[in-house]
Amino acid sequence: MNSIKELFLLEPTMTYLNHGSFGACPRPVFEDYQNWQRKLENQPVQFLTEYLYPALKKSRLSLSDFVGCDEKEIVFFQNPTTAVTNIIYNLDLEPGDEILMTNHEYGALIRAWSEWAQKKNVTIIQQEIPIPVTTEENFIELFWKGVTPKTKVIFLSHITSSTALIFPVKKIIQKAKEQNILTIIDGAHVPAHIPLNIHDLGCDFYTGACHKWLCSPKGASFLFVKKEHQHWIKPVVYSWGKNGDDPGPTEFLQDFNWQGTRDMSAFLCLPTAIEFYKKEIKLKQQTCFDLIQNIHTEFRNTFNTDSISPGGKWLGQMVAHPLPKNTSSDLKEQLWSDYNIEIPIFERNGQSYIRISIQVYNTQKDIDLLMSALRTRI
Ligand SMILES: Cc1ncc(COP(=O)(O)O)c(C=O)c1O
Repeated sequence: MNSIKELFLLEPTMTYLNHGSFGACPRPVFEDYQNWQRKLENQPVQFLTEYLYPALKKSRLSLSDFVGCDEKEIVFFQNPTTAVTNIIYNLDLEPGDEILMTNHEYGALIRAWSEWAQKKNVTIIQQEIPIPVTTEENFIELFWKGVTPKTKVIFLSHITSSTALIFPVKKIIQKAKEQNILTIIDGAHVPAHIPLNIHDLGCDFYTGACHKWLCSPKGASFLFVKKEHQHWIKPVVYSWGKNGDDPGPTEFLQDFNWQGTRDMSAFLCLPTAIEFYKKEIKLKQQTCFDLIQNIHTEFRNTFNTDSISPGGKWLGQMVAHPLPKNTSSDLKEQLWSDYNIEIPIFERNGQSYIRISIQVYNTQKDIDLLMSALRTRI
């Protein structure tokens, strides 16, 4: 086994090519996680009333530095779904107002938006971005066709889930600002995957998962709320906050920090996860990007189907590709049961796709095993 793989808790004989869905956690980060849990159980009252808040602040400081914003603009959530939902339920829109997104957004969040929009008579526009995508300019032009005088919010993935594409969000945010349209960016796949500076992007809201590419234990995500919006963004789950005695430098942080008794250990080990990323992952990431560009070509040659992007800057550490029409419907199960390969295969608009993720513990050997299995089974 390669030495970096030994640092992760993954079952050693498995070929794990799905870091994008649920990232793997390295041993030092998991140990830190368990240490926090032990501290909590050792003296629960002291931990929750004295130690927790300074530790949360330390985590916010290190995460905000990592993602390019202020410590007081970040609140922790277990996952991006709960973070985005908290924004959705604070929006004060009129019937007939429109939320603009693409047809590449994450299914669970389209559902979250739709449930709310139906009750409010707000319209969700999923602007079609056809594949293959071509150029950034073409993307922006197509997307902007969805903007009308009723567009009040743009909700956009920074890296999409099923199509695994990096979208040019910065230019969209700039255009939205000129027209007073709020921007909510779904960066679930972004932290520790591609460079992120939220202030530089200029969006109003941003969510990211830390348990994907930053390799924290599951249940660590964040919501960035620009300072000017903090007075109207309230927690969906109200608990002790400014009416209790929980310390907090701002009403915003006070209101969000305490949402009933819960285990916040996954939030508390973010400084260790960031340290691990800087020491063990960052310098090896270029190899992963290079491997993905090669796989992009190899998928096309192996399956004889068209790529969904020209590659290059549309891709990070993941690539999705359409499978041939006659592909067996249980290919995913075959790869798992016969080759011990974990990789997602899914349908989108009646077409099957395979999506590969390459993290630093993956090697060319993993890719060779996958490609030879695919050649045998397709
Ligand atoms: C683009 C995107 N947004 C959001 C999510 C968040 O999912 P969850 O909140 O279920 O962790 C994911 C998960 O993979 C995703 O790919």
